[in-house]
Amino acid sequence: MMLTEYLLVLFLFSIFSEGTNNKELELHKMFEEKLQAPGFNFVRPVDDYKTPIQVNVTLWLISINAIDERSQVFQATVWFEMSWMDRNMSWSESDFNEVGYIILPSKRVWTPDICIMNELTNNKCINADDNLAILSYGKIEWWKFRDLKLTCSIDIVKYPFDKQTCSVNIGTWHSGDNAVRLTTTREIALQSYQKNSVWNLINTSSKYVTSVYSSDFTEIHFQIGVSRKSGFFVYNVILPVLLLSILTIFCFFLPIQSGEKSSFAITVFLSMAVFMSMIIDSLPKQSHGNFRLGSYLTVQLIMSCITIVMEIFVINLFYGKTNDKIAKFLIAIFLCGNEGKYGNTDGNENQIDDNIRPISSKDYDIDRVSIKKPLGSEISTVDREVAAQRLENICCIAVSLTNIVSFMVYMIDVNV
Ligand SMILES: *[C@@H]1O[C@H](CO)[C@@H](O)[C@H](O)[C@H]1NC(C)=O
Ligand SMILES: *[C@@H]1O[C@H](CO)[C@@H](O)[C@H](O)[C@H]1NC(C)=O
Ligand SMILES: *[C@@H]1O[C@H](CO)[C@@H](O)[C@H](O)[C@H]1NC(C)=O
Repeated sequence: MMLTEYLLVLFLFSIFSEGTNNKELELHKMFEEKLQAPGFNFVRPVDDYKTPIQVNVTLWLISINAIDERSQVFQATVWFEMSWMDRNMSWSESDFNEVGYIILPSKRVWTPDICIMNELTNNKCINADDNLAILSYGKIEWWKFRDLKLTCSIDIVKYPFDKQTCSVNIGTWHSGDNAVRLTTTREIALQSYQKNSVWNLINTSSKYVTSVYSSDFTEIHFQIGVSRKSGFFVYNVILPVLLLSILTIFCFFLPIQSGEKSSFAITVFLSMAVFMSMIIDSLPKQSHGNFRLGSYLTVQLIMSCITIVMEIFVINLFYGKTNDKIAKFLIAIFLCGNEGKYGNTDGNENQIDDNIRPISSKDYDIDRVSIKKPLGSEISTVDREVAAQRLENICCIAVSLTNIVSFMVYMIDVNV
């Protein structure tokens, strides 16, 4: 709307450039007299000093530059479009060869003292250090570019499926509501918005809020709702961790004789720890308590650690000393007092109960031929194998169930 007015004026300029320039100069001369009045640029342009002047503000969101979870900062580039009426500044276009507007330094006329309340840098207020446009019917238009750096409390509980609402809070600094009334008709203009690669803009709104400092001041809070594009994190963090947790389970399927069980479990544990530290590095430290992804990763890390410990027990059961007390204790549990039942067979595998035969027993059938008969309190090799296999099966089921349940709980928690 305003742009078309400008374009029209530019067009007219180009047609009547000779005559118009003189007319524009005349107009500036006319203004010069008004502007010279002492204090002119400090007095609100109202007829009755008791009535407030209405300043319309529109926030044009150009781009969201960054949202820093760690320092809780929201950065965006915006334009503030501010306009108000000053009827004494009007002229008749026909008297001045259709000159529709003039540009003046904003210092020379009255401007509202608007500040951005939640701006972090020292550049909080909108300074009259550039130009503004005055339209022939007395409307004053002031456009200001700003790179905002705002405080915004960022809630990472659902990270990386989180939604954030950040707000641009503007208000007058010295003039109360009885002097300057800020209004906004459009919520936030998005015609010039450039998409961000990390954040999707979901919705915007604005509201009037009484200042916390004084009830005489009303602020406008322009709110910007964004949601994180989680694809990057799903592919680069959650999927690898999910795969690692599946690998943890597969650790139990490695044959004990391969000798790789514990090193495999430790490798998975270390990879998990690397992913965890990668994520934790980029997040604020204080909100970990109910940080869902953190809880999920912690459960995975604990299960990976338990896997290492259990694999050590399994290997110990299998290869340990024949008089090892722990091994005896575990065998007593896992064979439910049936020790010797599987081992008293002179190595004859036909008498081993097929149901509890180790899955991979074929691999070491040859070994079994050379099993020596259990003597007194010594543990038989077959007992060891059966107990180790049972321990492994139980751990495998327990770890798988925990991994599946923790993943599902995480997914439900973040409402994916
Ligand atoms: C507008 O101008 C007239 C004279 O030109 C003056 O009397 C009046 O006070 C001015 N009003 C304002 C609000 O400046
Ligand atoms: C401000 O907004 C109101 C409501 O839309 C409108 O009536 C008024 O003309 C606007 N004022 C200016 C100076 O744009
Ligand atoms: C966006 O919409 C949601 C749901 O309707 C609402 O809860 C939220 O406050 C809105 N955010 C903004 C900035 O308007």
